[in-house]
Amino acid sequence: MRRPIIAGNWKMNKTVEEALLFFNELKDLVGGVDDREIIVAPPFISLFSAFNVTKNSNIHLAAQNIYWEKKGAFTGEIAPAMIKDVGCGYVIIGHSERRQFFFENDEMVNKKIKSALEEGITSILCVGESLADREKKLTLSVVGTQISSGLKEVLAEDMEGIVVAYEPIWAIGTGMTASAEQAEEVHLHIRETLNQLYKKEVADSVRILYGGSVKPDNINELMAKPNIDGALVGGAGLDAKSFAKIVLFK
Ligand code: PGA
Repeated sequence: MRRPIIAGNWKMNKTVEEALLFFNELKDLVGGVDDREIIVAPPFISLFSAFNVTKNSNIHLAAQNIYWEKKGAFTGEIAPAMIKDVGCGYVIIGHSERRQFFFENDEMVNKKIKSALEEGITSILCVGESLADREKKLTLSVVGTQISSGLKEVLAEDMEGIVVAYEPIWAIGTGMTASAEQAEEVHLHIRETLNQLYKKEVADSVRILYGGSVKPDNINELMAKPNIDGALVGGAGLDAKSFAKIVLFK
């Protein structure tokens, strides 16, 4: 059985004070939940304070990005060991906004994943097609390539440290969710790709999250699909009550 994950990606939102208010509220709303994993990815600057409020709770922390080097002269960058030090067991890698605005490519994504694995941090590898790709019927090949390139040289035994998030770019922040059927088709393809790259046990155990305009009113339909194991939530995850409703999907 794959344990569902609901992860919130705050992107560039909230001050430290706002973050603390959110975590205190969320702890009250989802305190008793233990059959699913709850992950929140605040901006780097709030991680340390968030760690102090969430340790010994069922809320786990993720960073939104890392650099692949261990330390040194890389102004503005954050190393895997640094996020681990402030309680992050997870990191989001290759989000489409990083690919689009900060020119991350599959090779950089792959380096980041390998550096996170070395530190024992689980990567949430984001993949997804643009609207133009979808219109040209390239969705499955684009996503398949992002998976195989992102996971290059990642061994089967390390796949416990990988979660995949399928996020069609046209559905992010637009209010246009992929239908549960559209998402399931791609999730199944991702699982088949993992089956080709690894063995069936690996493909069957990797959690594949859907992201792109997930809201309290569409989460149940998405989670009812056999290959959708959770959600990566942007906008609807900024409000603790709305995020808690998604966490508490049926
Ligand atoms: P959204 O963002 O829920 O606001 O569409 C999802 C994401 O980018 O992870």
